[in-house]
Amino acid sequence: MNTRELPVVPDRRTVESAVALACRAPSLHNSQPWRWVMGTTLRLYSDPDRLLPATDGFGRQMVISCGAALNHLDYAFTANRWRPLIERLPRSSDRQLLSTIGFVPAPTPTDFVARMAAAIERRRTERLPLDAPSAWTETLEQLVRIIAGTGVELEDLGERSRPALEDASRRMTGLRHDDPTYQAELRWWSGRGLFPDGVPEQARPSDSQQHSVHLSREFPPGRASTPDGSPSEDRAAILLLSTSTDSRLDWLRSGEALSAVLLACTNRGLATCPVTHLTERAATRTMLRELSSGDGMPQVLIRVGAGTGVGEPSPTPRRPLSEVLVRERPAQGNLSGE
Ligand SMILES: Cc1cc2nc3c(=O)[nH]c(=O)nc-3n(C[C@H](O)[C@H](O)[C@H](O)COP(=O)(O)O)c2cc1C
Repeated sequence: MNTRELPVVPDRRTVESAVALACRAPSLHNSQPWRWVMGTTLRLYSDPDRLLPATDGFGRQMVISCGAALNHLDYAFTANRWRPLIERLPRSSDRQLLSTIGFVPAPTPTDFVARMAAAIERRRTERLPLDAPSAWTETLEQLVRIIAGTGVELEDLGERSRPALEDASRRMTGLRHDDPTYQAELRWWSGRGLFPDGVPEQARPSDSQQHSVHLSREFPPGRASTPDGSPSEDRAAILLLSTSTDSRLDWLRSGEALSAVLLACTNRGLATCPVTHLTERAATRTMLRELSSGDGMPQVLIRVGAGTGVGEPSPTPRRPLSEVLVRERPAQGNLSGE
């Protein structure tokens, strides 16, 4: 073997554009808790400086967010004729290392991959009330197919669960009103207009719309509103993603599955909203487990429905690529081939 041969890596522009697309992934409060290092492979790390301790003490949602970015990255590279070889939680003394990604050239992507990659730029979290999704049986079958084999289960909790979920959501919101640390954290990540992270005003329901979706995390009021400004009933389908155990690998996989579900729904013209305030406390997690027909660990709820017709909301901001992607300097030995 030619010792001077360097591993195959995509060129700089390809890596940068794929990582930029990956960073369009959803994350808890738009915290964007990821870091990418490009060397002979690409490495994904979680960024503990972006942990939300009062909301996500164990970093479960931090890892789920990184999993979503990993799945976005997969589609972004595959659509660009590179097949990422993803290793999850490789052995490392660095606990933040979540994945190493090698590459092999790949043929022209399938239509499905091209459409999933194209959905990345169009996907938004929609917090206003949604109408019932059309062609739901067919959509649900596709979503189950897409995440098959990932170790993540998807279930439609159905209308029968709505009253219990909405009631639990109201109680959780009440409890959190009395939690100053949680509230401070929520305010910190809301309305920081000049920052490239957090949940901006235009993505948060206005005062009058705030309580029309009962199954939702309460944010400080923003500017998002239905076309006529009147509250309407939320008819969104409610999905639950769960895993058989609750390991870091389960969290990473849940994020990947979350991303695939959101992109597939976006591709079908459906609006989506991840909902996680009910998976943040043991009591409500147990309640979700009881509502589910399986006995897995609930990771994320997702509202899916037809949008309210306000038009596509503007995208939420992202941190500049220079803050999240670094290029590793090659070791001397690599350069000389010795
Ligand atoms: C792990 C995770 C948890 C989330 N939890 C919630 C939630 O409880 N309520 C909500 O409205 N949005 C939730 N989101 C959506 C984020 O707030 C959203 O992705 C982020 O603000 C960026 O906006 P975008 O999705 O429109 O790009 C969550 C996203 C992730 C990945």
